[in-house]
Amino acid sequence: MIVAIDGPSGSGKSSIARAIAESCDLTFLDTGAMYRSVAAECLRAGVDPEDAEAVAEVARAIDIRFGASEAGQTVHANGRDVTREIRTPEVELAVSPVSATPAVREVMVALQRKVGESADVVAEGRDIGTVVYPAADVKVFLTASPEARARRRAVQRSGGNLAENPEAMADADEQAKILADLKRRDDYDSSREASPLRPADDAVTIDSSDLTFEQVIDKICSLNADLAARRKDA
Ligand code: DC
Repeated sequence: MIVAIDGPSGSGKSSIARAIAESCDLTFLDTGAMYRSVAAECLRAGVDPEDAEAVAEVARAIDIRFGASEAGQTVHANGRDVTREIRTPEVELAVSPVSATPAVREVMVALQRKVGESADVVAEGRDIGTVVYPAADVKVFLTASPEARARRRAVQRSGGNLAENPEAMADADEQAKILADLKRRDDYDSSREASPLRPADDAVTIDSSDLTFEQVIDKICSLNADLAARRKDA
């Protein structure tokens, strides 16, 4: 069973995919964390993220491992715990050119396909349904308005939880900054030449702007009878 969830930054892909993995007993594959790990390793090694050849070298040599801790998923790159580092603004900036490098994508896609060969997977990213697993059993393009996505990120960063408190508010300046950054990344991800962000022809688009977390999960699981049958919490 392969479930592919693609969509722009902040659409909730990550938390939704994680919850589906848990509930349907699937391996969760956070492909954004893989590109972020390459970016973090470039910064550590003093490699210019715009230097395609040098970045490709880093990608070819990288060893990425996912693990689990009480606080959630952990990521190690070349033996170093980069779980927090890959979420820093420095990595956030570097990851756009890194993930737009075709040779980097080639290496990452091969690694991702390998995972799918031996496990039932729910993977989230930008090119999962179009490139990585074109024959996925379920393909979802999860989106939400830029404003809804910025608000979710801002509330999350201030320690709030919209699932528990849908009225939660975040600092307006912080939210405006996040909105500007999201729009920058949307433009970059959709206009790059290598695997631009777009829904697969056979993907089901779900706009989560006005849906609760549970409603999104219900919608995705209802797309496939085998997936629905795997749910432990239904
Ligand atoms: O989903 P995320 O924000 O963790 O992704 C980080 C970056 O990696 C983002 O700029 C898009 C890119 N990415 C990609 O190009 N292809 C993927 N399959 C996943 C992420």
